[in-house]
Amino acid sequence: MALYTGFVVFSVLAGLATGANCPNYSSYSMQAHAPLSNGSYRLGYMRPDPACRTFNLSDVESTIVSMASSIFDPDLYRLFLNAFPNTLDTAIRWKGVAADNADEELTFVITGDIDAMWLRDSANQMQSYRSLLKASSDGNSLASLYRGVINLQARYLLESPYCNSFQPPVESGISPATNGAAADDTVTPPYNTAQVFECKYELDSLAAFLEVSADYFQATGDTGFFGRFKWLDALQAVLDTAMVMKTPTYSPNGTVLDSPYKFTRMTTRSTETLANDGLGSPVAGNTGLIRSAFRPSDDSTLLQLFIPANMMFSHYLEQTAKIVDALKSKARSGLGTQMHTFAADVRSAILRHGVVADPNAISRYGSRSVYAYEVDGFGSSIIMDDANIPSLLSAPFFGFTTVNDPIYRSTRAAILSGGSNSQGAAQYNTNPYYMHGPVISAVGGPHQGPGMAWPMASIVRIMTTDDDNEIVGQLKSIISSTDGLGLIHESISTFNQSKWTRQWFSWANGLFGQMILDLNIRKPKLLQRSYQP
Ligand SMILES: *[C@@H]1O[C@H](CO)[C@@H](O)[C@H](O)[C@H]1NC(C)=O
Ligand SMILES: *[C@@H]1O[C@H](CO)[C@@H](O)[C@H](O)[C@H]1NC(C)=O
Ligand SMILES: *[C@@H]1O[C@H](CO)[C@@H](O)[C@H](O)[C@H]1NC(C)=O
Ligand SMILES: *[C@@H]1O[C@H](CO)[C@@H](O)[C@H](O)[C@H]1NC(C)=O
Ligand SMILES: *[C@@H]1O[C@H](CO)[C@@H](O)[C@H](O)[C@H]1NC(C)=O
Repeated sequence: MALYTGFVVFSVLAGLATGANCPNYSSYSMQAHAPLSNGSYRLGYMRPDPACRTFNLSDVESTIVSMASSIFDPDLYRLFLNAFPNTLDTAIRWKGVAADNADEELTFVITGDIDAMWLRDSANQMQSYRSLLKASSDGNSLASLYRGVINLQARYLLESPYCNSFQPPVESGISPATNGAAADDTVTPPYNTAQVFECKYELDSLAAFLEVSADYFQATGDTGFFGRFKWLDALQAVLDTAMVMKTPTYSPNGTVLDSPYKFTRMTTRSTETLANDGLGSPVAGNTGLIRSAFRPSDDSTLLQLFIPANMMFSHYLEQTAKIVDALKSKARSGLGTQMHTFAADVRSAILRHGVVADPNAISRYGSRSVYAYEVDGFGSSIIMDDANIPSLLSAPFFGFTTVNDPIYRSTRAAILSGGSNSQGAAQYNTNPYYMHGPVISAVGGPHQGPGMAWPMASIVRIMTTDDDNEIVGQLKSIISSTDGLGLIHESISTFNQSKWTRQWFSWANGLFGQMILDLNIRKPKLLQRSYQP
């Protein structure tokens, strides 16, 4: 979710929303601030001054205080203390209400060092606090923050359902950010740059709206909210977009069908534009899978039937159908059933077209089935994984499957191959984007390229395993590779921790906090040990 501008992505505009004397967090987060932690990694204290924080929640503050006794290691605690509140501390750029309805809350959440709101990031930025979410009508509550994100995402989806990242709402009075990279994009359907920051069609952006809606509903039981504003209309826009993106490249008689979405950009990076003059690689008909032009890294797909986003869409469609069921007659008759059916169809399409043999496993295990990263329905597939969620590694994390699914287990073995296993034995390489080296070994991706490992993938690895040794090993590598800054970077060179990207990546910070709170429930003993070298 970064615009690529070199190894360090500089902010387009960003600064803190409050207080004239508040530092620009884009620069602030590039240096470690005193007091340093007492462990050997000497991590900085990276929370802004209380007066400069963009949203205060007493539940988050009391969680931070109580975790001081749950976490033994001083560096691990410091990383948690910096990372967990990062979205609230720095990224709630504006919160208010709609001009035409004072009851309709709106929350504009920036991704961090880029001053725009991504559908995917904002859903996940909210999810990092989900364990603290409870029903409340208070405008200063977490529930209100969630409602504001859902309402603003609904507005965005009604405006431009194919786009991934958006400008501040007019009510905020914040000027739209300039996106130089997108200035010469040619996109069908067209969009308005006053509302849209970037228009890459990503299936997981649609799924993100379902995710944040389902998260809010499950935690609060607040059915009424979903019938009150534009949510049902936005849901219909999501369904219509996903349905039309099942359009294949050719009709049965061989004519080329008009693609509902096309995108080209003037760029030297192949991952920033689409093949075939904006169509993307050809996609077969009648697979039941939904196309995605771009991945959650905002890089183009090689083959458009992108399996992780289909998994995520199917899962959250199923969860969101429960909201529609609860709304009863407020929702269009038959809508809930249509959603349950659509979700089940995508799930069975994944099993039919998205499971392939791992060629490297044949000599060792006989034929072994894995989930492909992308397929085209004609028979081609890409076997790899990328750190960004949704990934194959994260499939149990977002609920599509469980860690015991045999296909997931063999997929995981293939994704994490490379280098040596925990016993030191050499393994074959199946995932071309598994990075390894002395600093950190983790899944990366083409967005920052070979040699750059993503700590986000290490976090997901922890959240999808029960193996204590694996968890400890991953935690050690995350804590030891922040370049002393005590924040979660986007990517890190596997040979030089001072070479990293994105000093201010709010979602990854929140995800780290979410993982620690999860460990505190699942594996509290692992938080009571030392992570010192
Ligand atoms: C904030 O800092 C970044 C990086 O140092 C810089 O590119 C940006 O222009 C600054 N923003 C403002 C509003 O000063
Ligand atoms: C670090 O250790 C010193 C001396 O024991 C103590 O006074 C201080 O509070 C500790 N700082 C942190 C952040 O734990
Ligand atoms: C958060 O609380 C501090 C005081 O601890 C205050 O100065 C600041 O304005 C508050 N921030 C917001 C966004 O309300
Ligand atoms: C081919 O099929 C499409 C859609 O099924 C139809 O619209 C078109 O008229 C047909 N063209 C020819 C040349 O048969
Ligand atoms: C590590 O990366 C930093 C930042 O890019 C660079 O300044 C430094 O020279 C690198 N160190 C080595 C040993 O290459």
